Amino acid sequence: MDTASQKKWWKEVVVYQIYPRSFKDSDGDGIGDLKGITSKLDYVKSLGVDVIWLNPIYGSPNADNGYDISNYDDIMKEFGTMADFDTMLSEMHKRNLKLVMDLVVNHCSDEHEWFKQARSSRTNPYRNYFHWWPAEKGKPPFRPGNFEVDGSGWRFDSLTNSYYLHYFSYKQPDLNWENPKVRQEIYAMMNRWFKKGVDGFRMDVIPFIAKDTTFPVITQKDLDAKYDGRWDVYQASGPGLHSYLQEMNKEVLSKYDIMTVAEGAGTTKSTVMDFVDPDRKELDMAYHFDGVSLGYVPGYFKKMDPNWSLVAFKKIYSDWDSVFENKGWGTIYLGNHDQPRMVSRWGNDAPEYHDASSKMLTTFLLSMRGTPYYYFGDELGMTNIKFDKIEDYRDIETIAEYNKVKNAGGDVKGFIEDQKTGGARDNGRTPFQWDAGLNGGFTTGTPWLKVNDNKSTINVVAEEKDANSILNYFKKMVQLRKEHKDIMVYGKYTLLDVDNPDVYAYTREAGGKKVLVLLSFRKTGGKFNLGTMQLGKEWINNLQPLTVQNGVVNLQPYQACVVELK
Ligand code: GLC
Repeated sequence: MDTASQKKWWKEVVVYQIYPRSFKDSDGDGIGDLKGITSKLDYVKSLGVDVIWLNPIYGSPNADNGYDISNYDDIMKEFGTMADFDTMLSEMHKRNLKLVMDLVVNHCSDEHEWFKQARSSRTNPYRNYFHWWPAEKGKPPFRPGNFEVDGSGWRFDSLTNSYYLHYFSYKQPDLNWENPKVRQEIYAMMNRWFKKGVDGFRMDVIPFIAKDTTFPVITQKDLDAKYDGRWDVYQASGPGLHSYLQEMNKEVLSKYDIMTVAEGAGTTKSTVMDFVDPDRKELDMAYHFDGVSLGYVPGYFKKMDPNWSLVAFKKIYSDWDSVFENKGWGTIYLGNHDQPRMVSRWGNDAPEYHDASSKMLTTFLLSMRGTPYYYFGDELGMTNIKFDKIEDYRDIETIAEYNKVKNAGGDVKGFIEDQKTGGARDNGRTPFQWDAGLNGGFTTGTPWLKVNDNKSTINVVAEEKDANSILNYFKKMVQLRKEHKDIMVYGKYTLLDVDNPDVYAYTREAGGKKVLVLLSFRKTGGKFNLGTMQLGKEWINNLQPLTVQNGVVNLQPYQACVVELK
């Protein structure tokens, strides 16, 4: 049996990710909220998408914008109330939209009651909900702490003379999954949300949950020998990991018709199947980081090499497709709340190329096998905001990285420049652009993060009116994927012209029918040699019809086309 014969609803959907803080503010406090989302569900429905993934909306002091949860059964004050949630969910279901929530259970907030109790004394019953290292044993062996200027994943807590583990900021203490009580608390919480009717979970850094609690010293040599030289691979290799996921599946997931997707941090082509092989009864899908990690200049924080290799890009996505050729199921994405805007990074946001390259990337995302996770605003062609000063940034990660450079006496100006095309997460978090008016129609108050000035042209109102807009192109691509599920969702994928440095070309085929997808990733266009192939009807094209001369297709800058083969 191959992947194509194992049909599931969650393989056929298009997932639309909404960053709630930045979608629509209903009460003028400058922060998006649930009532705002509810008020815009007709817009979401008009896109043709099926599933909404919301970043965390639970009680949180917002050290990391909701990825630090202080109450799993509550709604963040800025976002509204549980009644607002219930209304939102029922309005989604009325429109046949499903809701996927973010599940953040590698860590919680240091303001969660569990942690408040745990840190109060060494004998507190909640002490074992977290990982502690008593200071009388000396300093704990190094573990990385993302978002910390000193890079350490341990924080000293003087009250009990101990260090606690946090793979992210010190405001995000890691939960102790080795404690069965913690696991039971989490499963019960998940069951409560499923009983409310949510349709799935996107699982934040789920591969990191299990730890070797002897906390051995890990040297660079160990990392190189066993973990591809990478800390994230080490972190994703905890001994109990798959038994916990199987237990979670048995006690929670298997009871509902829902979907799950792992944020596949630290997973590789050789380990991912352990998460998504249906026979193992763990999770449905995972998303990898190989694609979005491409092109960064070593030694810098997310500095993009403008000459990143398309050949390498094609290899990554093709290799990942082949992982799921016979079993399991993949995902595809270019943007999310942790990434810069896709058009600024993988396309070209200069005025003359913005339209074509946005549409080209959308063609890629919606013509690949694997469930597409499409980030809100990319359907408008929203771009990086490119802040000139650190004070404009709100993101804990960018601020910590800036301070690392500053403390080391490094080139802070260069850092700010690098973030304009590269990785600063706030580039992808600016408020959604509804119209050309005040704050792009996002809020009547002061937005928590600046609105991009290009709201005057890149916005919903303008693009809904224009039949050729990026927005309308996105809708067409979604429809195409739905009308031709057999080919576009399940069909076999074959990479062509592997070494072509300018053009990404592949075929999708099913039931004796084949289409060719041609994508120009260059402002110089590109050429593709048809060989014996004969072009038929064009399904979609972001520019003028293809021109063929002596069997060679001449693609215009950032041209994209899906065309039948005879
Ligand atoms: C994931 C989230 C990211 C968050 C981190 C810690 O990578 O996507 O936004 O900061 O986990 O929870």
